[in-house]
Amino acid sequence: MAGTMKRKRKEKSQESRPATLKGKPVNASRSETAELVLPAQTNALGKLLGGHVMHLVDIAAAIAASRHSNSYVVTASVDYIDFRNPVNLGELVILKSQVNRVFRTSMEIGVEVYSEQILTGERKHTTTAYVTFVALDEKTHRPRPVRPLIVESPEEERRFQEAGERRKIRLANRYGQSA
Ligand SMILES: CC(C)(COP(=O)(O)OP(=O)(O)OC[C@H]1O[C@@H](n2cnc3c(N)ncnc32)[C@H](O)[C@@H]1OP(=O)(O)O)[C@@H](O)C(=O)NCCC(=O)NCCS
Repeated sequence: MAGTMKRKRKEKSQESRPATLKGKPVNASRSETAELVLPAQTNALGKLLGGHVMHLVDIAAAIAASRHSNSYVVTASVDYIDFRNPVNLGELVILKSQVNRVFRTSMEIGVEVYSEQILTGERKHTTTAYVTFVALDEKTHRPRPVRPLIVESPEEERRFQEAGERRKIRLANRYGQSA
């Protein structure tokens, strides 16, 4: 459009992968899901069970990872999950997921969890999690290269850089690496 600045599109492709794999922007796989909190998923105080939140985080992250890679994916690791605010019975739990960075066969996905009150629409941030998924070849079930990520905004660039720092830590702590 005339008069508007062209958005920066940066294909992040320093990892080795087949040149035929075309990059995809973060937006193409960004996902949002919502679920109503029902009694079966709550504790005696009417708060959503932490284990159920972890299950929803895993699924929300898998959606973004498989949409980006057009592959079957498996969870390789979860950095941590902290619960800042509870989600109450009768509220909506909203999960937003996006690919932060693609490495070679793995991807870091960021998931933000919010509670939303039905009557007021008030949203509270309750949880942030970083989950690593590995794309698998559908025949061999071995890791396969993932298309590059196209980073367009300063926020996406920040997430990209931070994901690189987190990867160093998680691989250093990977099963079998520590003394
Ligand atoms: C994850 C898994 C596929 C890795 O297989 P592997 O034989 O160790 O393969 P590699 O060593 O070649 O690693 C493949 C990728 O996984 C990454 N990876 C492996 N373990 C990891 C960990 N703990 N945290 C983050 N990334 C990890 C590697 O860094 C590599 O990524 P890259 O190609 O982008 O650099 C394998 O360990 C597995 O199948 N685990 C079980 C997964 C599962 O069942 N999840 C729960 C149900 S979905």
